[in-house]
Amino acid sequence: MHTRREFNARMLGSLVAFGLVETLWSRDLFADQVKPTIHKWLRELVEMTQDLRGRKLTDLEFQTKMEDLYKRVDLTALCALIKLDEVEKKKLPDSGAANVGIDLGKVEGLPANLGFGKQIFGCGKGRSVVPHGHANMCTGFIVLKGKWHGRHYDRVETLKDHYVIKSTIDREFGPGDLSTISDHKDNVHWFKAVSEAAYIFNVHVIGYDAGIKETSGRLYLDPEGEKLAGGLVKAPKMSSADCHKKYG
Ligand SMILES: [Fe+2]
Repeated sequence: MHTRREFNARMLGSLVAFGLVETLWSRDLFADQVKPTIHKWLRELVEMTQDLRGRKLTDLEFQTKMEDLYKRVDLTALCALIKLDEVEKKKLPDSGAANVGIDLGKVEGLPANLGFGKQIFGCGKGRSVVPHGHANMCTGFIVLKGKWHGRHYDRVETLKDHYVIKSTIDREFGPGDLSTISDHKDNVHWFKAVSEAAYIFNVHVIGYDAGIKETSGRLYLDPEGEKLAGGLVKAPKMSSADCHKKYG
């Protein structure tokens, strides 16, 4: 007769003998299953951010790389890592988007300074991440949940009271769909939730180009301005309050 402890020890010994335990360990099935893939993915993001800041990548090259990276993400693992289920318990605002910070401080293998900011946007149906452009910033969206009407514009010209913009993207976005922004391509975005509760993951790299003198921060505007020739639009500058009043 064996005690239970002896039996367990023998059982484990048999598993080791058959190579099963080692296989399970190597697949990390005893630990958090989502970790390995998403950690590697985040390290890639850190590296390409360093390359953008170190001018090894132009903003346009960074945009392409970021889109490639977003296309390869394990969306389920990303949602688990950033605890989307907890974010979903919070009430969504009556105007505009909830903006929830993400703590990646406990993710192994990442430097203390990631070089990029990250957050989750959440909107109720009909509410928007209101129209705005950016200066000296590269940023990317990937839809985590729900459906959005996503629009991007090139910021063709910046004048005293308005911008001249041109529509570049105008379509529905669902989970896994993505878009990016730089100073030179698709600089303005506007995302309106068209399903009940919709969430977006956002990464942003601020101040990547010392040559750009405009201060970083949102450039609010009204994309439904006067139509000009050649598909251009005269989009008046707006305050955040006015932009949220009209589009939030
Ligand atoms: Fe933005």
